[in-house]
Amino acid sequence: MSFSELKAYCAANDASRISDLFADDTRAGSFSTQALGLVFDWSKVALDDDGVDLLLALADDAQVAARRADMFAGKKINLTEDRAVLHVALRAGGDTRIEVDGTDVIPQVHETLARMRDFASRLRSGQIRAPGGGRFRDVVNIGIGGSDLGPAMATLALSPYHDGPRVHFVSNVDGAQIADVLAGLNPAETLVIVASKTFTTIETMTNAATARDWLAREVGLGSVGLHFAALSSNLKKTAEWGIADERVFGFEDWVGGRYSMWGPIGLSLMIAIGPDRFDQMLEGARSMDEHFCHAQGRDNMPLMLALVGIWHRQICGYPTRAVLPYEQRLARLPAYLQQLEMESNGKRVALDGSLLDEVSGPVVWGEPGTNGQHAFYQLIHQGTDIIPCEFMVGASGHEPELDHQHRLLMANCLAQSQALMQGRSLEVARQMMQAQDFEGEELERQAAHRVFPGNRPSTTLLYPKLTPEVLGQIIALYEHRVFVEGVILGINSFDQWGVELGKELAVALEPVVSGAADGAGLDGSTRALVAHLQAMKKS
Ligand code: F6P
Repeated sequence: MSFSELKAYCAANDASRISDLFADDTRAGSFSTQALGLVFDWSKVALDDDGVDLLLALADDAQVAARRADMFAGKKINLTEDRAVLHVALRAGGDTRIEVDGTDVIPQVHETLARMRDFASRLRSGQIRAPGGGRFRDVVNIGIGGSDLGPAMATLALSPYHDGPRVHFVSNVDGAQIADVLAGLNPAETLVIVASKTFTTIETMTNAATARDWLAREVGLGSVGLHFAALSSNLKKTAEWGIADERVFGFEDWVGGRYSMWGPIGLSLMIAIGPDRFDQMLEGARSMDEHFCHAQGRDNMPLMLALVGIWHRQICGYPTRAVLPYEQRLARLPAYLQQLEMESNGKRVALDGSLLDEVSGPVVWGEPGTNGQHAFYQLIHQGTDIIPCEFMVGASGHEPELDHQHRLLMANCLAQSQALMQGRSLEVARQMMQAQDFEGEELERQAAHRVFPGNRPSTTLLYPKLTPEVLGQIIALYEHRVFVEGVILGINSFDQWGVELGKELAVALEPVVSGAADGAGLDGSTRALVAHLQAMKKS
């Protein structure tokens, strides 16, 4: 199956409306996937059985099943870095065996998890104390990208389960963030976790040095080490930085940054919610892994999420997709998914180095509902671009006493996908205006503004309640979606060379910005911007 065959099918069906597909009363059931207590409804997508079959054939021809087996078997599918891709090993059961270079990686994963559990439990119970004798009441995770977004997103998502020290996150090299976070904390009771796979990322190492200076000033240089822990795959660098080995939680290069919240990078989350609940999150992810490996065709949720994604981006040509969780505690999910999806599949070169024939992955963006409704939904409903929407909502919240609010939340979520599909015709808009006594040209003018074209696609993911287990399922669902889309595009979803150039140029520009070097050789625009900043700073 080829992209062009799918595009031909798409063009041939262009005139039909999604709502007409519901003439078949069974559509909601047959165009949705249920598994593990989740319902992924993709019935409001412009696909009939033929279209779904073509997409499934596309996945078959791309050998998604074989590539999936390669990933789970520890093969080095990250070809540009010659690495295995084994975030699934971080949540695999103890009876699993996955070899990399002839060594089973699972015992090491479980040993590290056991050390994390021990550390988190002793910190939570107060057995691990600050050098001054007090409890650690605050934990600051310093990291960026995958060393921040996963634990920060999950820590907020699971806030009803927090019963440990308060956890804070610092990522930006903008000193404003660390200044604001540290301003509210007592250094004598603060543990700083430096989270960096490479332990070389400038933002993280700069913030870590700032935190070290803050602690040294407040608790004395001799005690600083006991206020730090590190999460990294670069144990040489953590030692050079002076963090004691027993405070270092290591992981291997086969864990990509944006896939790393399941292991040591999740330590701050584990401290907040406790090891048992962290385990439940891993179990949720593991159940999604098993489902992904065994469910067939339309019954495979990550596969269908990916095929809907391919349909909208590569076949229909819609440039963005909105992720719209009706769950305030998933406020950081869109940012998390931006890294997961865009750093993974924002590539223009295929595995063999040739240029892609198709467009790369879409722009991913979003905000929780209902807030987004009062901000950007106007454009989603009546703008000229079509933006596929991925809604998600739980059947219950964590506030039973506010169930009436939760009912409103669910109703709003369902109403939006309904409105996007149905729209409002000119005829109905005219009737509305007539009822308000408009006439003639003015009636026509007013009615035109009140038309909703409809026929705008969306999917809806339903889950019972945002527990640690369900969060694990949802995040693993999206990870596997990204994997399948990457396989179909024929790209390497596991490197990120596109972030390097800007990093290199920033290092070279810093002395120019500070005035220690002149801007000779810089392009005219950058030189002028530097000059403006320097002048503004002086004035
Ligand atoms: O610059 C991009 C990136 O490499 C991400 O892929 C990664 O998650 C982030 O930086 C942080 O990297 P590290 O964990 O090595 O500090």
